[in-house]
Amino acid sequence: MSDELVELAKRRGFFFQAAEAYGGVSGFYVYGPEGAALKRNLEDSWRDRFQVQEGHREIEAPTVMPEPVFEASGHLDGFDDMLVECPECGESHRADHLIEDNTGIEDAESLPLDEVGALIAEHDLRCPNCDAELAGEPVEEFNLMFETAIGPGSGHPGYLRPETAQGIFVEFPRLKEYARNQLPFGITQVGRAYRNEISPRKSIVRVREFTQAELEHFIDPEEDEPPLHRVADAEVTLYSAEQQNAEDGGHVRMTIGEAVEQGVIASDWVAYYLGVGQEWYERIGVDMDRFRFRQHLSGERAHYASDCWDAEAEVDGDWIEITGNSYRSDYDLSKHGANSDEDFTVFRQYDEPKVVERATVDPDMSYLGPEFGGAAGDIADALRTLAERDRTAFEGDEVTVEADGESYTIPVEKTGFGVEEVTEAGEHITPHVVEPSIGIDRVLYTVLAHAYETDEVDDETRTRLALEPELAPTTVGVFPLMDKDGMGETARDIAADLRAHGLDVTYDDSGNIGRRYRRQDEVGTPFCVTVDYESLDDDAVTLRERDSTEQVRVAIADLPDILADLRSGDRAFADL
Ligand code: ATP
Ligand code: GLY
Repeated sequence: MSDELVELAKRRGFFFQAAEAYGGVSGFYVYGPEGAALKRNLEDSWRDRFQVQEGHREIEAPTVMPEPVFEASGHLDGFDDMLVECPECGESHRADHLIEDNTGIEDAESLPLDEVGALIAEHDLRCPNCDAELAGEPVEEFNLMFETAIGPGSGHPGYLRPETAQGIFVEFPRLKEYARNQLPFGITQVGRAYRNEISPRKSIVRVREFTQAELEHFIDPEEDEPPLHRVADAEVTLYSAEQQNAEDGGHVRMTIGEAVEQGVIASDWVAYYLGVGQEWYERIGVDMDRFRFRQHLSGERAHYASDCWDAEAEVDGDWIEITGNSYRSDYDLSKHGANSDEDFTVFRQYDEPKVVERATVDPDMSYLGPEFGGAAGDIADALRTLAERDRTAFEGDEVTVEADGESYTIPVEKTGFGVEEVTEAGEHITPHVVEPSIGIDRVLYTVLAHAYETDEVDDETRTRLALEPELAPTTVGVFPLMDKDGMGETARDIAADLRAHGLDVTYDDSGNIGRRYRRQDEVGTPFCVTVDYESLDDDAVTLRERDSTEQVRVAIADLPDILADLRSGDRAFADL
């Protein structure tokens, strides 16, 4: 983002660093009135495309969750970035980013720690803050979660959620009930996520508190198929892992349908959401010439993902990840199922009941009790589980099971092993999850950067944010030519009427009309209405469009409908 745009964002109330009165703290930003309105409109637009149009439902879960959630999800062990500290000034750096920024190497995140340390030495990388040598400094894993204590004392550690997704996964037992045990169904959430980033940067691109809009779509991997035909013809720019690894690899243009047919995108569900996503990015004004889907390299994928395609946008020569589209398989639900007492499966009904063979055991407790004492009950449970999983283990004279970390060998005749025929109506399966995870702050940053333009109007350079009307913080500026002879009252009445129709309106009567237009152009207001002397006679006003600066005369009574249509895209200004 150019310095001019960062300055505009601060001066006109889009976003700025938090708590500057106390020196600020990096990685925390405030959205001012314009930014908060833009963000809200972005979130609403996301909801419309990913939730309403797809028939999904939204929940709102807590942002603090207890430790066992993150033990099970793998975040406690595996949610790390690579840290190297400067021996001179003590500044912390993302080791992989230092390499990416200073060598031709892409995605250093996928390299092992020792290789990253060796590359720092080989390229003689230095501290960006004080220029001290970093060669030989230890490169360590740093867990990104913010820890907190729940309640007094330190008995209940908790963590600020690093992704909104876990709040959906842990509630799956209730959510599946809500969905009447019918797959597929999708649950969305828009909310704050927290990561103690080693080195926050690029203003709102890498912050420590940010907003995610996530959809977790629960599917039966064998039965459910996405409505791929709806997006199959969309042309996308793909940068696959294969292309990234090839010497002369580059972007490939193809349709979503072709990408699935040719196996470039392995999951048709992920492909479907790339199509849905692209439709949305285009709708909100992301420049499609500066947009691509990049597949994660195998070493780069998050611990939960079996495949991932990021949506990336180019800003000032850098590609920024704005969305992760992951195939999370049954990873999260299986983990929470194994680590809690709840059932994270759904019942899949067969078309016809099936007669199946089932291995059962009926352990002889009068043998197990005296022989193994207090472990007898656990051994009996382990025998039951083993019989369900691997009946061949009971083919010999003895069978060995693990219970409480110990191995026990039992004569098969004492296990009561047998095989019986039963009629089953269905089976329990753990759903798979497809997840488009959108970073609202990064999308907002991209939308602003791609909308920022300067041009010449009336021999003056003007700055303009060419925001889509749907997103613009203010839809219409209402001005009287001057606040006299009744023009001010008429303009104020129009503003009140438009607000009553649910439109975002700003009223301005200060300075000449040209200045007032520039003020609105700079914050992306797509339309302005001016009340002049004629308006007092003909009940009509001048309606001006930001981008073309064209003006048309419109009856005051028609304004609410016209502006609502222009905002929603149901009518184009050129057709007025
Ligand atoms: P990165 O590699 O840039 O750190 P990530 O791969 O860790 O990002 P994900 O875990 O896939 O990101 O998170 C999903 C989305 O959340 C990202 O695509 C991004 O838009 C957003 N996001 C992640 N971390 C941050 C952050 N520190 N600040 C702002 N947005 C973020
Ligand atoms: N939910 C994806 C992520 O934030 O890691």
